[in-house]
Amino acid sequence: MSILVTGGAGFIGSHTVVELLERNEKIVIVDNFCNSSPNVLDKIRDITKKDIKFYEVDLLDEKNLEKVFKENDIEAVIHFAGLKAVGESVEQPIKYYHNNITGTLILLKLMQKYNCDKIVFSSSATVYGKPEHLPIKEDFPLSTTNPYGSTKLMIEQIIKDVCISNENFSVAILRYFNPIGAHESGLIGEMPNGIPNNIMPYILKVANGEYNTLTIFGNDYDTHDGTGVRDYIHVVDLARGHLKALDKIRKEKGVQIYNLGTGKGYSVLDLVYMFEKVNKVKINYKIGPRRPGDISACYADVTKAKEELGWKAEKGIEEMCKDAWRFIIKQSKK
Ligand code: NAD
Ligand code: WQD
Repeated sequence: MSILVTGGAGFIGSHTVVELLERNEKIVIVDNFCNSSPNVLDKIRDITKKDIKFYEVDLLDEKNLEKVFKENDIEAVIHFAGLKAVGESVEQPIKYYHNNITGTLILLKLMQKYNCDKIVFSSSATVYGKPEHLPIKEDFPLSTTNPYGSTKLMIEQIIKDVCISNENFSVAILRYFNPIGAHESGLIGEMPNGIPNNIMPYILKVANGEYNTLTIFGNDYDTHDGTGVRDYIHVVDLARGHLKALDKIRKEKGVQIYNLGTGKGYSVLDLVYMFEKVNKVKINYKIGPRRPGDISACYADVTKAKEELGWKAEKGIEEMCKDAWRFIIKQSKK
């Protein structure tokens, strides 16, 4: 039987595919490359020395997605495919709701039809909105401030309802904090299309000279240096969390929800200074106004994942900065 990985050519999906292949799991990837490139698949083959079964299919294309279920015996789905740019989701909400929600509904419908009853879903810390306390626990109140976040919250609810309707269903909802870093080979990493929204891809473009200056969005937050604090997690640690979640849903039915973070918060300036120190490059920055919708600080309570999955993040912020930069250097040498 195979694990279907939707969005397996993307940033987190590709790293998870590597970990799955290294554990000898049989996998099938579906991606439409709307935010990734086919050459990621070659890189995965280079790293793992294994062949990959791949379908270039859009989740919205039910007929072709059904072929994937017909031609493979799918045991479980790890569902990464989705659009993820917060700002774009405010400008184009219909595109986000359609892609993320309709795509998931079609996937769940086919899972039901083909008796596939296990799913690991990529949710996000964004579903906690503006948390009243820190660190954030899984049972904190949920709310969102943008259409992207709303798609995550709605999909969580849809999956929970499917679970209620089918007692054989088992689900792990994983709420990621801020994934950064890259595979230590330097072959796969984060490659956003267009101007990056997230901090690390932006730092990387300043480091390689593509952009002159990083704008830090506000230095008047109630944090140790005034800049925003986040729980950055190495993408390889995050990927490994998916394997633990898969083990869990193979054993237990029902809905399990886990925060995947390190439990530690770093400010924007902490991250910039660490990047400069470990990579010996200068990051020009200036302080700009706060970005609308940003919160001052966000970090996870990771006790539940540790106790119930036996998972915790192993890699620190130094390694995240080093690995992210190694990936960019390797790209520019090609
Ligand atoms: P990514 O954009 O690198 O990967 C998503 C992949 O899904 C891409 O390869 C894209 O081409 C594919 N895709 C999108 N829509 C599709 C569709 N309709 N049909 C087929 N393929 C489609 O993003 P990522 O950073 O790897 O994120 C993976 C998941 O994790 C997403 O659901 C995202 O919302 C979620 N998430 C990401 C972060 C983050 O900061 N990166 C944080 C929390 C949650
Ligand atoms: C981190 C910090 C910014 C860019 C977003 C989504 C969230 C999740 C992860 C998907 C903040 C500051 C950033 C810049 C800056 N994604 N910053 N200058 O906002 O915590 O979370 O990505 O689910 O849903 O909202 O991440 O990387 O954008 O920002 O100063 O050019 O860096 O203000 O403090 P964020 P981020």
